[in-house]
Amino acid sequence: MTDWNAYLDEARRAFEAAASTAELDEPRVRYLGRRSELKQALRNVRDRETGQTLNALRERLETLVADRETALDQAERARLDETLDVTLPGERPPRGHLHPLTQIIREVEDIFLGLGYEIVDSREVETVWHNFDALNQPLTHPSRSHRDTFYVDDETLLRTHTSTAQIRVMEKRQPPIYIATPGRVYRRDTPSPRSTPNFHQVEALAVDRGITLADLKGTLIHFVRAMFGPDREVRIRTSFFPFTEPSVEFDVSCFLCGGEGCVFCKYSGWFEMGGAGVVDPAVFENVGYDPEEWSGFAWGLGLDRIAAQRLGVPDIRMFWENDLRLLRQFG
Ligand code: DAH
Repeated sequence: MTDWNAYLDEARRAFEAAASTAELDEPRVRYLGRRSELKQALRNVRDRETGQTLNALRERLETLVADRETALDQAERARLDETLDVTLPGERPPRGHLHPLTQIIREVEDIFLGLGYEIVDSREVETVWHNFDALNQPLTHPSRSHRDTFYVDDETLLRTHTSTAQIRVMEKRQPPIYIATPGRVYRRDTPSPRSTPNFHQVEALAVDRGITLADLKGTLIHFVRAMFGPDREVRIRTSFFPFTEPSVEFDVSCFLCGGEGCVFCKYSGWFEMGGAGVVDPAVFENVGYDPEEWSGFAWGLGLDRIAAQRLGVPDIRMFWENDLRLLRQFG
């Protein structure tokens, strides 16, 4: 026969001896668990009196263990309070940043805003008219081919350049116009370190009275100096685009060697930037402007290569790979 008074004393001492809530588990199981002497005896109870005694003992033990647990828990919290310094700085939640290409686009927009230009967003799915015809592109031009351009149907395509925005804006408004329009463009090119089928351009258009090539050059110089540093020079070479006459291509002096020639600029001293020119009278006629009254300049350039050059990224495909090891370097 078990001496239940001794059982109670023993259990009480064991609960008291537990130094933490975790340590209390062992005596709780021993004296109150399913396989404890008490629980086994309760299962075998035959008479009412023993049942009452044992149940009273069980309740007593349950109260003892619960009280002990409360006391230990409070002590543990008090200790935690003493060691917890709520004045310490918290853990900083991880915070992302803009993609390097988005950063460049924002920077370009800021430069234009500083010049008093308006930033305009234009559509990426375009008509053949806005992408080619209105820009005076001859019917035979190879970029019209389905092999070079993504067509949605015969009349609709993914724009191959941001020059479409020139037409969109001029169709809707009267001069004077000073706009810059950055965005995505699409060409059926095989991905390589220097090109991806989907890339970014920014287009600028100024239409006013008496605009000349000199205004264009001045604006370009301002732009490259704001973008690449105050010592940059601009070089203009003659070229051809159907929507400008005369047409030029422009380069910026190497921002690493200052034009002397280095690995970065392939010993030429210059980086190719983009195309530009004086808006062709035929384009003005296509949007209903009088070419005798208005004149303007336009330019366009690819942003991905510029971003790659400036950030020292050797392959523009890296911008599209979503590799955080690369992106984190440009926070
Ligand atoms: N649209 C041309 C391209 O995609 C770039 C360009 C050249 C834009 C001359 C212009 C321009 O506005 O006047 O290569």
